[in-house]
Amino acid sequence: MPAFAVIGAQWGDEGKGKVIDFLAGNARIVARYSGGNNAGHTVINDAGTFAFHLVPSGVCWPHTQNIIGNGVVVDPDVLLTEIGDLKRAGLNLKGLAISERAHIVMPYHVQLDILEEKRRGAGALGTTGRGIGPAYIDKVARTGFRMGELLNPEEMAVRLPEIVKHKNEILTKIYGAPPIDAGAILSKVQTWAPRLAPYIKQVEDLVEEALSKGENVILEGAQGALLDIDHGTYPYVTSSSPTVGGALTGSGLSPRAFGGVTGVFKAYCTRVGGGPFPTELTGEVGEHIRTKAKEFGATTGRPRRTGWFDAVAGRYSARVNGFDTIVVTRLDILDGIDPIKVCVAYALDGHRIDRFPLEGGSLERCVPIYEKLESWTKSTYGVTREKDLPAAALAYVRRIEELVGVPVSMISTGPRRHETLVLRDIFGK
Ligand code: IMP
Repeated sequence: MPAFAVIGAQWGDEGKGKVIDFLAGNARIVARYSGGNNAGHTVINDAGTFAFHLVPSGVCWPHTQNIIGNGVVVDPDVLLTEIGDLKRAGLNLKGLAISERAHIVMPYHVQLDILEEKRRGAGALGTTGRGIGPAYIDKVARTGFRMGELLNPEEMAVRLPEIVKHKNEILTKIYGAPPIDAGAILSKVQTWAPRLAPYIKQVEDLVEEALSKGENVILEGAQGALLDIDHGTYPYVTSSSPTVGGALTGSGLSPRAFGGVTGVFKAYCTRVGGGPFPTELTGEVGEHIRTKAKEFGATTGRPRRTGWFDAVAGRYSARVNGFDTIVVTRLDILDGIDPIKVCVAYALDGHRIDRFPLEGGSLERCVPIYEKLESWTKSTYGVTREKDLPAAALAYVRRIEELVGVPVSMISTGPRRHETLVLRDIFGK
């Protein structure tokens, strides 16, 4: 009967899309619970190569219903483009359902995101510029529009002019930008409404029904725990809750529905955008990882910052989320790198600390304390059986398991669905 959350355990881009596409073979529903089209989930299988931004990563399985939960913010233009592209690629989107309560990313949110980033100057957060922060601001300010309102566009037309008037004051008086035209936004609403209406549903009922029949439900996270608005490296975070709390509030499920929480870790670390990153590699090894792993944002194309695996951050992530298993992805990228290092603790102001520091500004001062691990030369690419892994690669994974304190259930050894090594069944635990 349970729901299983699959959560990014680092700064996003851990390979959740691939993992969820693999696991969805055994799930009735995949429900995305947070973020918006700041995410880019890459999935490669027999149906093709995809970068999902809003559509959940279970969409390639015909028996799996895909849901966009209430915690997600939806840019209707992006979603419509994505639906169109996926249909053209031969996928069946009939089962896609969008929560009535998911908020809409309006064109002025995108504009405000970009203007605010410019205004921050050297202190820019490095947002994806997709309007995510401003859309969540309006949700909290209670001035947002929700997807369900597209079912009654006439009512939206009543509320829109007042909101646009307010946005125009901000645009013109704070940013010195030209005002936007409420009429242009209204015509967008009128094109979105009939095209998206068939997908807008009370999705909580669908999830509840699946759970009551004993079917598996995957709650798909976006971004990563260290980008969480509360638990991440604030202010260099996204505006939603990628951690396990967000999986509950973003899907409308109770904790009792949970059967497990899985954290997805890359075998190393990456971060895109600003903010502290203690294990960052700025030299040759970092460049090698970036090039070999094609570490460029799936959404913005920006080069990702790369670094060694950070077990201090990993332990923190496991604590915040209560992981009962973890998945290690992109192990093959470390093939041939010598030496391999893992950060086991930090030095903060001359003292060794094993816990992730929570006081603002302290992570910036942390210096990683590394352990060198044995490297391996034999390729791990595409390995699907434990006995085929080089001993040092398996020892690396086991050391991560030990340091993070959570058993590894799966290792991803390549981007395609089948390039996966299962050590224990996530659903069976
Ligand atoms: P926003 O979510 O666009 O507001 O960006 C806030 C921060 O989160 C920036 O550092 C982004 O680079 C980062 N971010 C947002 N989405 C993702 C993601 O899917 N992967 C990695 N970083 C992300």
